[in-house]
Amino acid sequence: MNEFAWFASRCGVSLLLGGLLAGPMTMGAPNESVLMPAPATLKMGSGRLAVTAGFSVAFAAAPDARLMGALRRTLRAMEERSGLTFARTAVGEYTPAADAGSGQLVIECAAPGEVIPQLGENESYLLEISPTRALLRAPTARGVLHGLATLQQLIQSDASGWFLPVVTITDEPRFPWRGLMIDVCRHWQPMDVIKRNLDGMALVKLNVLHLHLTEDQGFRIESKTFPKLHELGSDGHYFTQNEMRELITYAAARGIRVVPEFDMPGHATSWLVGRPELGSAPGPYAIERKWGIFNPVLDPTNEEVYRVLDGFLGEMAALFPDPYLHIGGDENNGKHWSANAHIQQFIKEHNLKDNAGLHAYFNQRVNAILLKHGKKLVGWDEILHPDLPAGSVVHSWRGPEGIAAATKQGFQVLLSNGYYIDLNHPAAKHYLNDPAPATAALTAAQRALVLGGEATMWAEWVTPELIDSRIWPRTAAIAERLWSPENVRDVPDMYRRLAVVSRRLEEAGLYHERYIDPALRRLAGDGATVNDLRALRAFVDLLEPVKDYKRGGQQPGATQFTPLDGLVDCARPDSAPSREFASTIDQFLATPRSAPAARRVETMLSDWRDTAQYLLDRLPALSPRLAEAQPLLQALADASSYGTIATAALRDGRELSTEEQRKVADAFKGAAVPHGAAELPVSKTLPRLIGASLAP
Ligand code: ACM
Repeated sequence: MNEFAWFASRCGVSLLLGGLLAGPMTMGAPNESVLMPAPATLKMGSGRLAVTAGFSVAFAAAPDARLMGALRRTLRAMEERSGLTFARTAVGEYTPAADAGSGQLVIECAAPGEVIPQLGENESYLLEISPTRALLRAPTARGVLHGLATLQQLIQSDASGWFLPVVTITDEPRFPWRGLMIDVCRHWQPMDVIKRNLDGMALVKLNVLHLHLTEDQGFRIESKTFPKLHELGSDGHYFTQNEMRELITYAAARGIRVVPEFDMPGHATSWLVGRPELGSAPGPYAIERKWGIFNPVLDPTNEEVYRVLDGFLGEMAALFPDPYLHIGGDENNGKHWSANAHIQQFIKEHNLKDNAGLHAYFNQRVNAILLKHGKKLVGWDEILHPDLPAGSVVHSWRGPEGIAAATKQGFQVLLSNGYYIDLNHPAAKHYLNDPAPATAALTAAQRALVLGGEATMWAEWVTPELIDSRIWPRTAAIAERLWSPENVRDVPDMYRRLAVVSRRLEEAGLYHERYIDPALRRLAGDGATVNDLRALRAFVDLLEPVKDYKRGGQQPGATQFTPLDGLVDCARPDSAPSREFASTIDQFLATPRSAPAARRVETMLSDWRDTAQYLLDRLPALSPRLAEAQPLLQALADASSYGTIATAALRDGRELSTEEQRKVADAFKGAAVPHGAAELPVSKTLPRLIGASLAP
């Protein structure tokens, strides 16, 4: 099909139908909550509080700087959504209401709370919206911040204007530790990335930013005491201490704690570039450029290691106000320990039994240093050992059993297993993963030790340009799991609200949707037309990056220097049109003889076939970088064509011939093969048209 024919077909009936099916997202009927996370209790009333340019706010008591800052951000977001301009004073500040009785929004904050947010602070709030005013009441400023985030999500419009729905919300979190971990080491993530993600976190009530600051591939924090660490271990990409203070202040203003992680004793290559004498093998060491588990590891038998750690961690303890400090502890393969006779002798002499015993010894020494500097130890679940000091927090990542194992021994725990957003699974999978489900065999005492969890954004495959698309909007579903009552777990309703909050997140400054069109323009090259780009967009919206740790296998030569702007980087996890196809197939298979249901399936399939065929024809005119799309486009064209045959047969109650069955099955199998680290998730749904299993 030539470009014109493709365009014409898109403008015809199929575009209309396709457009309706792909649809504008469901914003929810006026009485349907759009909030994410869902509040602890929510009672919808009838009616609305109109929001006009005269909208004003009154504080029951004079607000402090943090509350004023949060209010300014919320009002600005409301202005930007509505196009209204609220009244301002001569110096540009929002004009406060003359008295509480005349404000459309009245804020009652009983106590300011800690300026640097603390674990376990009261975060509750009440938001009562009537047709005449909204009341936001909270015991501390933390609750007011959350209530304002709720308000920011609630403002909506219809033909009669902007409004807040009449509603009564009483809200508080289920877990006190609701985090997002960002690895700034594998690929450096500068200040603006962190700040805009803090804005997104605040909108969905996440309250811990865990920064993974040291790794084999980079040492990303300035040390004034041991400057060789960041000078030689970072390629010049690190946070200065002033920048880190700025981030901590920015986070605190949004009620978010910043917990730093310095990974040790393994994942430590970048420490050793500048300080090779701290390693367990002679060195020299160079910054690691590949992904995986590497041998370099600190030497726990070397007193100089503890002298440096005392100095460095003392410096970091002064920089980071949070009482918790993460020391990593994961994936130490022990190879350099096993190969070092002196280290093995040390293990024997100190009765440490094995490398795990030496790791526990190291953790005890580090814990003593942390205690001296007023910090509590957090580590990945490899730190769990009979000798782990009491009071440590175990961060479970390897399996769901980590929670039970650590709490059984009396340790507080965080869950990240199941929240690995870097592994590209759909939001639903993370959403249904609960840190302490009612069904788990945990005692009440064990349950009390579950602090919450963290989404983990490991950065092997993300740049500042595309990291938002790997974090959002899926992390909003994790935020809901950690905030909302356990029984809030309706997946379709989650997706309905996720589509809304995704837009709110973009309004808050994130790039998870809007990075894509510029990325596609670069990928397609200067010869690409508007129609090429439109077709490409439709195509990449049907792709997902491969899951789990498969990408390394698909792109084995990739290093820290490989540009991440190929086809797979324009594909995003949890493809919405693929999910929509799955539900369209559900409806069709429930009533296969229904002509309208069959037509909906056929319309989707014929759109895909046209798009794929159009792009296959256009590839020679486009950038050579798109050559990697060819096998997936061919597979999509074939699977769509044969899907159409299978659909028509079901609709007509006709059995496919043996030959047809073979061809259809082959086409569906072909669509299930990833190329260039991207895959077609509709390949999991298509086999249902021939009654086949969805198993990979
Ligand atoms: C980890 O993913 N190695 C904690």
